[in-house]
Amino acid sequence: MELYSRMMEEITFHTGLSPTAFFTIAALMVVVYRTVCGMFVAPEDFNKPPTITASATNINISNNSFGNLNFNDSTNEKPVHLGDVTEQQLRAYDGSDPNKPILMAIKGQIYDVSTSKMFYGPGGPYAMFAGREASRALALLSFKPQDINGNLEGLDAPELEILQDWEDKFEEKYVKVGQLVPEPMRTEQTQSGDKFKES
Ligand code: HEM
Repeated sequence: MELYSRMMEEITFHTGLSPTAFFTIAALMVVVYRTVCGMFVAPEDFNKPPTITASATNINISNNSFGNLNFNDSTNEKPVHLGDVTEQQLRAYDGSDPNKPILMAIKGQIYDVSTSKMFYGPGGPYAMFAGREASRALALLSFKPQDINGNLEGLDAPELEILQDWEDKFEEKYVKVGQLVPEPMRTEQTQSGDKFKES
């Protein structure tokens, strides 16, 4: 008890504060320190690949339309590999659903660009590329809707080189989560246009 009183006296003597004020200020400083530290990313985590959780993808694993969707473990913290995806299916990953990752394809390879939501998310300067195969647009440095596709026909060598630079950048920066495959062949009935005619 004597030690306690002595300590309190020392605090008052050295800081000029009452023990209550001293401990309140100390506690506040700890809170501020922890809050500020929480705003920064640890250097080792800075370039970590994005993680997509099962809940974030909002996909029913047992009955998903991609068939090849694999969740790596039960912790749900590893990136999801989508596997084969058609351009039509890719469209669902354009950032309009905050529960889904934002994906983009270059030369048929699909990248998870969710970490650059400020570029590709709704209202972002490159939102038109989200959920799309953007090879032609990137090669031509074009934002025209008619160029946002994977058609490389007619591109010259410098344009293909620009596209290669984009691919290198994406490979380095983002996680590859799948590849584009052609739309499934329609049945003969569909092709003849009778029974399952597409709208
Ligand atoms: C006036 C012309 C342009 C300016 C000033 C500009 C500026 C920028 C800047 C400052 C960034 C961020 C770079 C970074 O932090 O890594 C960026 C990223 C990007 N730019 Fe542009 N840009 C222009 C034109 C274009 C064009 C024509 C395209 C393609 C059609 C394009 C596609 C992109 C893409 C896809 C990204 C994001 C890359 C990523 O995911 O890291 N930009 N741009």
